[in-house]
Amino acid sequence: MTDMNRVWRLRKRPVGVIGDDILSFDKEAMPVPADGQFLFRLNYLSLDPTNRVWMSDMDQYMPPVAIGEAMRGVVCGTVVSSKHPDFAAGDVVSGLGSWSEYQLGSPPFLNKLGPLGGAAVADAFGLFAVVGPTAYFGLIDLGQPKAGETVVVSAAAGAVGSIVGQIAKLKGCRAVGLAGSAEKCAWLVNDLGFDAAINYKTEDVSAALKRACPKGIDIYFDNVGGDILDACLKQMNYKGRIPTCGLISQYNATDEVPGPKNYPMILMQRLKVEGFIVLDYANRYPEAVGALGEWLAKGQIKFRLDMQEGLENAVTTLRKLYTGENQGKLMLHVS
Ligand SMILES: NC(=O)c1ccc[n+]([C@@H]2O[C@H](COP(=O)([O-])OP(=O)(O)OC[C@H]3O[C@@H](n4cnc5c(N)ncnc54)[C@H](OP(=O)(O)O)[C@@H]3O)[C@@H](O)[C@H]2O)c1
Repeated sequence: MTDMNRVWRLRKRPVGVIGDDILSFDKEAMPVPADGQFLFRLNYLSLDPTNRVWMSDMDQYMPPVAIGEAMRGVVCGTVVSSKHPDFAAGDVVSGLGSWSEYQLGSPPFLNKLGPLGGAAVADAFGLFAVVGPTAYFGLIDLGQPKAGETVVVSAAAGAVGSIVGQIAKLKGCRAVGLAGSAEKCAWLVNDLGFDAAINYKTEDVSAALKRACPKGIDIYFDNVGGDILDACLKQMNYKGRIPTCGLISQYNATDEVPGPKNYPMILMQRLKVEGFIVLDYANRYPEAVGALGEWLAKGQIKFRLDMQEGLENAVTTLRKLYTGENQGKLMLHVS
């Protein structure tokens, strides 16, 4: 083990696309655990759209990363040394950490990863840490899907969206996904069993939704906000539900984002629009992990990891989320 650490620190708030000067990758002294802490080495770093939110000082659900602070991230690593009675060298841990090769941890933010249920560490971390529970609670708790209903999901070929559509199918719904390329749309229909997919970059989204959802939309699982939300609002059925999961279309916005034109549909169709953050469901994670693990083991859901290499590539890799260059759950293999 080296005596130097490598840490990404936030240096500036981003304006628009995350520039190369927003974070610096620094060599620092190795941290030393105090009583109640453990030192772990990062194995996998999850790259998430919310990383861009945490870098900014927009209104958000937890404090933004402070200037000069190590960049916050969802991490998975292996304990190297421990001064916590419940953790020992070799334990695999995951949770909220930082973009640092070595870092200190303790519960409640970091806990042992598991049970893996036969899955590889990267798959278990990728599916169970954030993505799966987000899809599961957003669709099942907020969306309340019933057999025969139509579920539309945006960023459908991404990490959360691809799971949402597959759970919708397991619940007997019609699943329609929006994605940004022909290859992604083909994957949704041919490999994941979606009933229809719409390339929002090349098609007239409103007309395509009319064709793909002949009985209207009962649940729109919103990962993107913006124009796609507006188009879906217009075609929502009476008592429809809109779980608001993410707004990736506006995270890089430099101008004020206009509100949805079709906002009146919330009143006219008595819609339920509800935001959620997966952390709200922390005490129910075992329920989601149990269900997802079972579906995965039975081959009823498929999960795609987009694994990239090297902590030094964190920023360039993160940018892929906002251009749609990722193919599934975006992650860095660090060690
Ligand atoms: N509420 C929560 O607790 C929670 C937890 C996790 C994630 N989220 C949210 O869920 C959403 C999906 O996250 P994820 O981790 O699963 O990422 P992801 O879907 O794997 O990757 C993001 C995808 O968004 C699409 N996208 C990017 N810019 C877009 C735009 N302007 N319009 C439409 N689509 C766009 C891209 O796919 P295309 O090629 O299709 O454009 C890209 O691949 C994000 O909004 C994220 O913030 C929320």
